[in-house]
Amino acid sequence: MLATQQIESAIEDGLTKKRILFVDDEPNFLNGIRRMLRTYRDDWHMDFAGGVDEAVAMAENGAYDTIVSDVNMPMKSGLDLLEILRNREQTRNVPIIILTGNAESDLKRRALDIGATDLLNKPVAQDDLVARLRSVLRLKAYQDQILHQNETLERRVRERTVDLERARRDIIWRLAKAGEFRDEETGDHVIRVACCSRALAQELSMPPDEIQSIFLTSPLHDVGKIGIPDRILLKNGALTEDERAIMQRHCVIGASILQAQPKRISAFLDESSDYADDGKVQESDRLRDTAIQIIMTHHEKWDGSGYPNSIAGDAIPISGQIVAVADVYDAMRSERPYKRAFTVPETLDHMRPGRGSHFSPRVFDAFINIVSTFEEVRERFAQ
Ligand SMILES: [Fe+2]
Ligand SMILES: [Fe+2]
Repeated sequence: MLATQQIESAIEDGLTKKRILFVDDEPNFLNGIRRMLRTYRDDWHMDFAGGVDEAVAMAENGAYDTIVSDVNMPMKSGLDLLEILRNREQTRNVPIIILTGNAESDLKRRALDIGATDLLNKPVAQDDLVARLRSVLRLKAYQDQILHQNETLERRVRERTVDLERARRDIIWRLAKAGEFRDEETGDHVIRVACCSRALAQELSMPPDEIQSIFLTSPLHDVGKIGIPDRILLKNGALTEDERAIMQRHCVIGASILQAQPKRISAFLDESSDYADDGKVQESDRLRDTAIQIIMTHHEKWDGSGYPNSIAGDAIPISGQIVAVADVYDAMRSERPYKRAFTVPETLDHMRPGRGSHFSPRVFDAFINIVSTFEEVRERFAQ
């Protein structure tokens, strides 16, 4: 029977009719079975194959609930059929009943060894065959049910994971926006810093999960500006030394927002959560660590003249080194109430002397390689 015919007849039968394939090289035997099971035609859809190759082709497309095969056939035997079907994804779990002669005990053992579901003696008595088919079909129905439940569960877990991931990203972006609201910078600045930081991390061949952490958390670099008084944050003109010192506190304030919760708060959060602890908790710890690193170090400088801790060189985490470059570039290329936007050559002229003093030489060189990517990001997320 052609594959399409088989599929069509499967659809016609609907899902209620069980599908059985009988395999034997003797047409008389198959006709006998056909006659024997005539009264079951309403419950069972029955197909017949005259050899192993034909049976394999039919089984791959036919979605049978059970296969009944003779063992002794010319060319390929029923054991060959077993072996082939057990090694193929589509037919691995189909119950297979093997028909043997009464005395063939060795063959029976081998058949069970390579995955026969059940054995039946030839010649076949109708009662025996029907009883055996019923029990094997019941087994197959349980199997299908479990498989279906597993698939449903897996799909639900996948959907829930996507939901959680989306909620987490959403919260990060909103928190970043809260920081930017108080600043002269627009929300697009943090998106550009995130995209450019990701491009830099990729150019530096960092591991994919670290690239993703930097991308997700770099928008938070200035979240601490929430805690800076308006008179300083929005002041027109240069800041006094004291005011600058207060302004520089945005790093420490930002980090304290993200720092681990005091015990009583995390206990409260655990109580109000419906979900058990899982891998996601560890992952969110990692994200929080990266966020704190970036917030604390995006104003540090390679030569140790930055703030808040005046750390130098590779004591500055790579995430902070990266965001420092992306943040300065975007600020220079953007218009502010007190300045126009610098052109690309002006910006590069201004930043170049900072290689090895303000900026990490390695990160700066990577940045020079991908200035065009930075500009594509600016075009996509224009002010
Ligand atoms: Fe900052
Ligand atoms: Fe910024």
